[in-house]
Amino acid sequence: MTKSEAKVRIEKLRIEIVEHNKRYYILNQPSISDFEYDIMLNELDTLEKKFPEFVNESSPTHRVGSDITKEFEQYEHRYPMLSLGNTYNEEELREFDNRIRKVTSESFEYVCELKFDGASISISYKDGVLIRAITRGDGNKGDDVTLNVKTIKSIPHKITGKTIPDEFVIRGEIVMRRAVFDRLNEDRKNADIAPFANPRNAAAGTLKLLDPKIVASRSLDCMIYFLLSENLPFSSHFDNLKEASGWGFMVAESIRKCSNIESVIEFIFHWETERKNLPYDTDGVVVKVNSVRLQGELGFTAKSPRWAIAYKYKAEEATTRLLSVTFQIGRTGNVTPVANLEPVLLSGSTVKRATLHNADQIALLDLHLNDMVFVEKGGEIIPKIVGVDHSFRNETSKMVEFITNCPECGTPLVRNEGEANHFCPNYLHCPPQIKGRIEHFISRKAMDIDGLGEETIDLLYNKNLIRNVSDLYDLQSEQLIPLERLGEKSASNILKSIKQSVETPYPRVLFALGIRHVGETVAKTISNNFTTIDDLINADPEQLKDVNEIGPKIASSIIAYFSDKENIEIIRRLKLAGIKFYYDAHEITTGNTLNNKTIVISGVFLKHSRDVYKELIEKNGGKNSTSVSGSTSFILAGNNMGQSKKDKAESLGIPLMSETEFLKIIGED
Ligand code: IVH
Repeated sequence: MTKSEAKVRIEKLRIEIVEHNKRYYILNQPSISDFEYDIMLNELDTLEKKFPEFVNESSPTHRVGSDITKEFEQYEHRYPMLSLGNTYNEEELREFDNRIRKVTSESFEYVCELKFDGASISISYKDGVLIRAITRGDGNKGDDVTLNVKTIKSIPHKITGKTIPDEFVIRGEIVMRRAVFDRLNEDRKNADIAPFANPRNAAAGTLKLLDPKIVASRSLDCMIYFLLSENLPFSSHFDNLKEASGWGFMVAESIRKCSNIESVIEFIFHWETERKNLPYDTDGVVVKVNSVRLQGELGFTAKSPRWAIAYKYKAEEATTRLLSVTFQIGRTGNVTPVANLEPVLLSGSTVKRATLHNADQIALLDLHLNDMVFVEKGGEIIPKIVGVDHSFRNETSKMVEFITNCPECGTPLVRNEGEANHFCPNYLHCPPQIKGRIEHFISRKAMDIDGLGEETIDLLYNKNLIRNVSDLYDLQSEQLIPLERLGEKSASNILKSIKQSVETPYPRVLFALGIRHVGETVAKTISNNFTTIDDLINADPEQLKDVNEIGPKIASSIIAYFSDKENIEIIRRLKLAGIKFYYDAHEITTGNTLNNKTIVISGVFLKHSRDVYKELIEKNGGKNSTSVSGSTSFILAGNNMGQSKKDKAESLGIPLMSETEFLKIIGED
């Protein structure tokens, strides 16, 4: 590889890894398995070592993927929270052992622990009392999720005992039992909410909820794996964990001391199958040097300790036959190739289908019909094909070809330059796109119409009762009652909910229209700047681009949407139905109640996000500020507000105002 090729590859890998970090840590929606992620990170690491001129402090090889969100206060970790080096093979494990033996000639022990798959947490205690719980964040500072963590039964709020240091930090993995996860997903499916892909995502997502009551209802657990203090009770990691278990923390029973790397490997093999009988997901084994003193001698690299390593189990694979490939068209017209497989058992469930992502993936696998393929369950719900066993290929078997026309409406498919996916451009008349748009329109964050699931929409579409969202407002009970599975009661509920939806505020109506690239936030921004739909329809690209947050991509998508006569007709009919295409002065809290007031927002809020509060302050004439000073008028204080801000406010005599009080004074409660 030449230097310039390496540069390009390094940059591409960095961008992709940063994106995967975001999907994993923030969105809790990974799109690749840990194994694939680790391969990318390894490639980047190797390239950076080979071409040190491109080494860069902010490269993902030097930094921990961050889970920080805007909704919580951030706190610094007293001890940085690093990640672990990892490996998938025995050889690298032996290399790890050799590296340590080069540093010390004394005999030492390892501790083996299962690597629980959840979200890491760092909890500090002072005089036996839980003070604060912080997520890993970027390793130096993380989100303060104390209120949520306090709802977890396996974390004590107050402990007593002779060996407890005055101050200590305890770390562990917040996990969700598989049984709890299954129940939660069942509830989510029934309520038409997207299910979590796996217990890790469910645990990490739950930890970041704004309402501790919901967190409490999800029965999370916390497996403790690390005790830190200037006054540790014992000089070995194992004894410290056992001691912490005596204080009331949950420490896994599987933890073992091993006197050499051979017994570490035995532990790893034993748990490779045994772990499936545990109530929690585990994805490997963490091997740590037991002596706290030796840990100190070995120290850390920029990202991880030299005294510990994670051995990760590879996701389970199964081999089966590829029967056919079907192409599915999504709500936005995206084409997803799906492999239909001979049913095979994989990690406890029968797999019949696997995703193939896109045309590139099919080409990369050089997939032929009837091939024997390897399927793997990664981070997602749907398994994927990771390889082909060529030794079973029949010479006459046909290559899998990507379709050229939409299987639903026959329109030639399009693939834009630089994009991986094909899509069907027949936005207005392609059935799944029409149905998808209606599903989006009625969804909770849009018009919030109850009683109309995916199946009912299918039914209404197939019976020719709806062709676009405005048809919903013409539906009559005589048309609904005779439909399968709908009775008089559900028909009347549906119509009632449709009728009620005309009260939906303008920003949500805009979002409901499903204009490409116009999500909830953009819809709010647009509605603030174009206070009636006619203003928006008549806006030219320049006026749109003048608005902060609206770039050329969004602007041209809005223009394209309103240049379509059919969309204008839909809007005309929606207006007739009484839908609000204007900002209702009674709904928005605007005024001058907060004129000349400088306000600092701190803590976690239940009713709105911090961003909404910032907006509300400005709309009511106030000014936002981030630091408390003599000119601060008051602090809008949510739950668990930052201690330093609290202290400063107290010393300056600045009042704190609760969320409810604040909403009352601006007239929104
Ligand atoms: S030790 C310096 N032990 O795995 C010590 N981590 O990739 C670092 N994890 O962020 C962590 N089980 O969230 C350790 N028994 C265990 C663990 C464990 C799960 C997680 C933890 C950490 C990640 C490292």
